[in-house]
Amino acid sequence: MNRRTDEQKGRGLTDHVFVCTNDRDSEYACCRDAHGPEVEAAIKEWLRERNAFWSTVSVSSASCLGLCSEEGTAVTIQPRDEWYDEVTPADVPDLLEAEFGPDAEELPGEQ
Ligand code: FES
Repeated sequence: MNRRTDEQKGRGLTDHVFVCTNDRDSEYACCRDAHGPEVEAAIKEWLRERNAFWSTVSVSSASCLGLCSEEGTAVTIQPRDEWYDEVTPADVPDLLEAEFGPDAEELPGEQ
């Protein structure tokens, strides 16, 4: 085991977006069936287009975030402690603009 905290802090990452892509073989809703992978891809694309993916904001698939719905995916942005449910790919630009600014200019180190 290696402690990598200082190295990671030195990279300049400010935010980590977790997107639920949980799959569940049951009668209950799960984000895998509610656009989870598509939402994650749309978030990465939006950030890449603004040179913020992995330079400032990281994105990870997550297991259940406790906001399951058939209508869309659960997303949380840490350490802001922001939480969203029922996110669809079409919602991603509005969600990220509200958090980071239209061109991600509200992130440190961005234009
Ligand atoms: S399955 Fe995604 S929040 Fe529960």
